[in-house]
Amino acid sequence: MKFAQFLLNGAKSNIPKQVDRFSKFSPSPLSMKQFIDFGSANACEKTSFVFLRQELPVRLANIMKEIDFLPDKLLGTPSLQLLQSWYAQSLMELVDFLEKDPHDKNVLKKFTEALVSVRNRHNNVVPTMAQGVLEYKEAFGVDPVTNQNVQYFLDRFYMSRISTRMLMNQHTLIFDGSTNPAHPKHIGSIDPNCDVVEVVKDAYETSKMLCEQYYLTSPEMEIQQVNSKMSDQPLHIVYVPSHLYHMLFELFKNAMRATVETHEDSITLPPIKVRVSLGHEDLTIKMTDRGGGVPLRKIERLFSYMYTTAPSPVQDNARNAPLAGFGYGLPISRLYAKYFQGDIQLYSMEGYGTSAVIYLKALSSESVERLPVFNKSALRHYQSTTEADDWCIPSKEPKKLGKYELSAQ
Ligand SMILES: Nc1ncnc2c1ncn2[C@@H]1O[C@H](COP(=O)(O)OP(=O)(O)OP(=O)(O)O)[C@@H](O)[C@H]1O
Ligand SMILES: [Mg+2]
Repeated sequence: MKFAQFLLNGAKSNIPKQVDRFSKFSPSPLSMKQFIDFGSANACEKTSFVFLRQELPVRLANIMKEIDFLPDKLLGTPSLQLLQSWYAQSLMELVDFLEKDPHDKNVLKKFTEALVSVRNRHNNVVPTMAQGVLEYKEAFGVDPVTNQNVQYFLDRFYMSRISTRMLMNQHTLIFDGSTNPAHPKHIGSIDPNCDVVEVVKDAYETSKMLCEQYYLTSPEMEIQQVNSKMSDQPLHIVYVPSHLYHMLFELFKNAMRATVETHEDSITLPPIKVRVSLGHEDLTIKMTDRGGGVPLRKIERLFSYMYTTAPSPVQDNARNAPLAGFGYGLPISRLYAKYFQGDIQLYSMEGYGTSAVIYLKALSSESVERLPVFNKSALRHYQSTTEADDWCIPSKEPKKLGKYELSAQ
């Protein structure tokens, strides 16, 4: 309703202009150090405001340009229409602040309020986009999992969203005038002393609870830590605990489901083994299960949006957290890892089990945001047509014997 009104006000014609204007700028990735500086004792709300009122429109506009390159049939779905209206409205609300005086306390207050409202408006972006892709798949029989452009787009789209939420969270948490009573040392959502093993234990406990609700049993966890610098010391990094928790929780859910389902008939369940190691460059977390594994051919497919082997959970029941079902667990977790220059990889032995490895940067100076930018290379990606593979595809039919083979008999 609000958006229809907004269009009637004549803002419509201005939207593409603003998208063009801001998409000409490249986003400016921030390092963990810069995030910390924005929130340190001499934090300046004005500086943060001046940065964000430009940077947020730049990030939104860059990804809005890419949305335009999605297949028309996908763009035409009600979900995509709704989603685009959210982006357009948020962009315009933020652009409004460009002419405002940073020295005016009231402007700063209004800006924080605007950030909260933008953040709330975008709360359901992931299920809405997923719904759009599903509608497209059902209506046109196109499988977005095999459509490389859609996969390419979704990785960039969700990464852009992770980044804009991070920026908005930092500003609202740091400048709302209160300290976080549970975590006074946190800087916004960043813990400068994030105890990795603690987060592993938390994620395990929550996943275990879900697993027991669903299967009435759950595997134990064995955890081991290694520190190249000093043994016995807790392993600390500068990180966003909620991001790390998200990744671990998803990996635990997968490992538990695989373990329970492959050992249905046995009395005991093999434990999930977690090893955490801090080196000079990487902080690595390896989670190993004995849940039967996945054939190599399928590994990359597991990172496709919408690939799942779980029965579909009820669509409008997204608030309930099922143990599995949407197929978003792995791809989104990998984006969280990549966001600060890390990664998630899966190594599997079919018939035995799987190891999932989370790589994070050990040094905060190397944890820099990884952001999509709309430029010529991105454009080329959307415009390229699928060409024939440059490796032979083995034919399924046995080949007819050739002349040479016949005469050789
Ligand atoms: N440790 C594992 N062992 C065996 N199979 C796995 C493992 N982890 C993932 N898989 C397979 O990969 C698929 C995709 O995993 P993903 O976490 O992305 O989605 P999901 O678990 O099906 O749903 P959700 O979005 O709720 O996580 C799973 O359905 C499962 O078939
Ligand atoms: Mg999962």
